[in-house]
Amino acid sequence: MNSNGPGTDVVDLDRSRLPAHVAIIMDGNGRWAKKQLLNRIKGHEKGSETVRTIVRTSREIGIRFLTLYAFSTENWQRPKSEVGALMTLLKKFLKNELREMRENNIRLFALGEMERLPADVQETLQETMRLTEANTGMQLNLALSYGARSEILGAARALAGEVAAGCFPAAAITEEMLAERLYTKGMPDPDLLIRTSGEMRISNFLLWQIAYAEIFVTDTLWPDFGRDEYLQILKAFQLRERRFGNVPA
Ligand code: FPP
Repeated sequence: MNSNGPGTDVVDLDRSRLPAHVAIIMDGNGRWAKKQLLNRIKGHEKGSETVRTIVRTSREIGIRFLTLYAFSTENWQRPKSEVGALMTLLKKFLKNELREMRENNIRLFALGEMERLPADVQETLQETMRLTEANTGMQLNLALSYGARSEILGAARALAGEVAAGCFPAAAITEEMLAERLYTKGMPDPDLLIRTSGEMRISNFLLWQIAYAEIFVTDTLWPDFGRDEYLQILKAFQLRERRFGNVPA
């Protein structure tokens, strides 16, 4: 898919069949920078501009939940300088976008091991979450120091603790009870999962929640991804028949 196709616009979308929750694996910042003979950090900087575009577009269209994979637990293994630059960019993004999030009724929420983030980033995140808590237009979830297996493990441990404490027997545990102990508690599962830069991988992202998500992988590198291609994917999503394991109607 590319952004040069026939222009899809917001008006071409069927408002009654929008995904309630879009999740995105933002990949390819490093390759974008390499192609331009730039430092990887320049790729992340350009990538954060794409984040702004996609957040704005999602809000405009009426997406209720947007979850962006901004930093995985595995990303801690990257060079210190790159991790530091990503943290600085994240803080800058939160500070720059706060006004717009408040004006546009966007709530910010973070998923992941917050305690591993630098103290100043934690503070900015907490402040942004607090100041946008009452917003109901769209929820922007940033997955930070996030890993799905560890999230599911946390839920399993919580349930095991409750069983041991005699709250309920193990046999009474339901899918809903496990889902309530994930970071995404109370949110609809993603209907649409987008991955940029062509890799056919899930990379430990929302493993429980994407059980029935429609997956779109585009070769476009994240910094080159934009409004047009996003709208094209949403249009294509609306043409897919979602059967949830059932037979066609
Ligand atoms: C993948 O590119 C991207 C990341 C690891 C981080 C995503 C971060 C941003 C888009 C910018 C900052 C985020 C916010 C929310 C403002 P990669 O480095 O893995 O690319 P490569 O696979 O080409 O090396």
